Amino acid sequence: MGLRTVMKRLGQDMQAVTGAISREDWAMVEELAPGIARHAEPPMAEKVRILRWLGVDAGTFREFDAQVERAADGMAGAAARGDGPQVIHAFAEVQQACLGCHQQYRKPFAKHFYGRR
Ligand code: HEC
Repeated sequence: MGLRTVMKRLGQDMQAVTGAISREDWAMVEELAPGIARHAEPPMAEKVRILRWLGVDAGTFREFDAQVERAADGMAGAAARGDGPQVIHAFAEVQQACLGCHQQYRKPFAKHFYGRR
């Protein structure tokens, strides 16, 4: 599924942010955050398949993604101000949103689209 490629990139960008935070390289955090907030999406046909599979859960799934966007935008703002503690706070909020979606949907997603748990 194309979503996996999107997720791999998100994982890499989050790792890069971790490295930038360690170096207090706020300019780099500011540069990386928008790519996390407005990450690539799978092709339209795949999105349709995913949304059809989600059914009534589509709203919850999308809300996790919206949380990633809001938190990553907050992280960019904090980085622009050079506010390290707030960058770290927002980074944790991004991670919470990633984890929330993974805990709820990753296994059922794999089971449905790859036929395994
Ligand atoms: C709206 C739901 C959702 C959100 C939000 C989300 N993910 Fe995922 N993620 C998934 C699903 C579903 C999979 C399983 C994809 C698959 O197995 O093909 C996944 C898988 C992954 C993987 C494993 C990819 C692989 O190689 O198997 C990584 C890494 C990942 N996500 C990173 C992130 C990061 C970092 C964030 C937050 C910035 C995030 N994800 C936010 C739904 C989400």
